[in-house]
Amino acid sequence: MSEPDHSKYVVKDLISAKAIAARIEAMANEIESIFADSQQLVVVGLLRGSFMFISDLVRELNLPVEVDFIETSSYGDSMESSREVRILKDLRGEIKNKDVLVVEDIVDTGHTLQHVIKLLNSREPARLVVCALLDKPARREVDVQADLVGFEIPDEFVVGYGIDYAQRNRNLPYIGTVKFLDD
Ligand code: PRP
Repeated sequence: MSEPDHSKYVVKDLISAKAIAARIEAMANEIESIFADSQQLVVVGLLRGSFMFISDLVRELNLPVEVDFIETSSYGDSMESSREVRILKDLRGEIKNKDVLVVEDIVDTGHTLQHVIKLLNSREPARLVVCALLDKPARREVDVQADLVGFEIPDEFVVGYGIDYAQRNRNLPYIGTVKFLDD
């Protein structure tokens, strides 16, 4: 039997742009409550997948924030996690004794988040809180959980709103599921 041709697929709507915006507004309110007394909050986006989420989230945050980024890679261009998390780009700034909000697009196996939490905690932030737009608990391989989750989703391959399949579809303003035409 030949390999399936994964270049032919359609994207089906899962979470609309409107639903994402409403959920982000609610998450921002929760984050403002958590960090109401914070003077030094560093919002750390995990590149590349979180670029759209972090840009919309910080616009809703009525707090003094710094924005920084860390880039990790676990998937390459494949659909399967290699389980080996590499830091491709580290933070520019110091986080010691500062409050940190980690912004992740999706928690899947959990390897990326586990690795990043361990790394950032080793730098002794005052507080570390994690928010993830999407959580796919059925795929979890390690015991890690975001403190705030936008949407819990089923075990389906998703794209859009920053999330790619083979580097495509990150620019979709909504989240969709990938359906391969020859499956
Ligand atoms: C994806 C996604 C998460 C991570 C989740 O990133 O953006 O960061 O995988 O997977 P895990 O819970 O199984 O570790 P990826 O490494 O593909 O890089 P990208 O953000 O540049 O797309």
